[in-house]
Amino acid sequence: MEGTTTFPHFATDAIHEGQEPEQWNSMAVVPPISLAATFKQSAPGKHAGFEYGRSGNPTRNVLEKCIASLENAKHCLCFASGLAATTAITHMLNAGDHIISMDDLYGGTNRYFNKVAKRLNLETSFVDCTDSANVAKAMKPNTKMIWIETPTNPTLKLVDIKEVCDIAHKQKDVFVAVDSTFTSSYFQRPLDLGADIVMHSLTKYMNGHSDVIMGAAALNNDDLHERLRFLQNSIGCVPSPFDCYLVNRGLKTLHLRMREHMKNGLAVAKFLEQSPRVDKVVHPGLPSHPQHELAKRQMKGFSGMVTFFIKGGIKESETFLKSLKLFTLAESLGGFESLAEHPGIMTHASVPEDHRVLLGINDSLIRLSVGIEDLEDILADLDQALKAAIP
Ligand SMILES: Cc1ncc(COP(=O)(O)O)c(C=O)c1O
Repeated sequence: MEGTTTFPHFATDAIHEGQEPEQWNSMAVVPPISLAATFKQSAPGKHAGFEYGRSGNPTRNVLEKCIASLENAKHCLCFASGLAATTAITHMLNAGDHIISMDDLYGGTNRYFNKVAKRLNLETSFVDCTDSANVAKAMKPNTKMIWIETPTNPTLKLVDIKEVCDIAHKQKDVFVAVDSTFTSSYFQRPLDLGADIVMHSLTKYMNGHSDVIMGAAALNNDDLHERLRFLQNSIGCVPSPFDCYLVNRGLKTLHLRMREHMKNGLAVAKFLEQSPRVDKVVHPGLPSHPQHELAKRQMKGFSGMVTFFIKGGIKESETFLKSLKLFTLAESLGGFESLAEHPGIMTHASVPEDHRVLLGINDSLIRLSVGIEDLEDILADLDQALKAAIP
C-alpha cells in the first residue's frame, strides 16, 4: 500500500503518553520500575492511589496509559499473558451465555473456548466470520460476546470489523472483542471501527523483543472497564512491574519496527509467490489475497506475517524448516528476529484435526514471522532452504 498514512501522532504518543517525568519526585525521563508489593497508607484506608501490587502498580499504570493512547481508548488493562487477557474478558460472561468466535484463530484461544470455557457452561459457536452474514445467522438470544481475530493465525483471513459490530450491536448487551495481535496498534484500530474491546498478546509485536509474555485489553466503555478492572484484581492474572517496564520500552520503537516488518514481509511474500517450489502464498497485502480490498480499507499496513504452502507435504515442510539458518524454528511471532514454524505440528496442534482440515491447516502450510534483519539475508535463507527441500 504505497502512500499509506499512519494514525496521527502515533510515535509521539508511544514515546510520551503516560511517561511525564513530573509524576515522580526524581523527574526521571525514563519511568522508574516500581517493584513494591505494597504501599504505605497515612491512615487506615487512606493511600496515595496504590494499596497492593496486584490491584495497582505505578509501572503498570504507565504502560496501560500509553497503550490506551495508541488504541484511541479511554482505558487499558494489562494481564500476565495474552491468554490471561482473553480469560479475564470471557469471565465477564455468566454460565449459560453463548459466544460466537471466529473459526480460524490462535490455537490456544481455540483450546480455551473449547476445553476451559465449555466446562464453565459457556457455549462457543466457531463461525467463519469472513462472511458477516454467518455471524447474523449464528446469533442467539443468549449470545453475549463475539470474538474476532483479524488477521487470523495462521491463515491470515480478515474479518470486516465494522460489519460484524453493526450486526452484534443490534442485540442488547452483546460486546465485540477483537484480537488485533497480528497488526499491533500501529496498523489497526478496532475501537474506531465499532469494537467494544481490543485485545493484544503484547508478547508479539507490541513488545517486539521476544523477552516478555503479556497481554492487554483496551476499551472505551466505563461499565465494561469497571467489570474488567474488578476481574483483573479478583482473578489475579497481572504482569510483573519489570515486564511492564520492558513492554513500555518496546513501544517506543513500535512504529520503526512495524515499518521494517511490513517492508520485509511484503518482499518475502512476493519472492515466495514467484517461486516454483511454492504452491500458494497468503498475505493480505498481495492483490491475490481474496480480501485485499478489505485489508486496504481496514488496516493501515501489514506486519511481517506470511503464510505459504510448500509444494509436496510433510517431508518437504520438515526439510525446509530444518534447513533454515537465519530463521529460527520456533513458536511465537512479532519479535525483531525471523521465526518459522509448522502450525499443524506446533502452535495449532491443540486444534482438533477435523477443524484443522476445515480451515486448510495442512502438512504443507508454513508460517513465517519475518523479522527486521537485512532483506537480502532473509531472502537468501528462504531460497537455500526451499532448494534443500525441493532440489
Ligand atoms: C493471535 C494471538 N492471540 C493470542 C495469543 C496468546 O498470547 P500469549 O501467548 O501472550 O498468551 C497468541 C499467542 O501466540 C496469538 O498469536
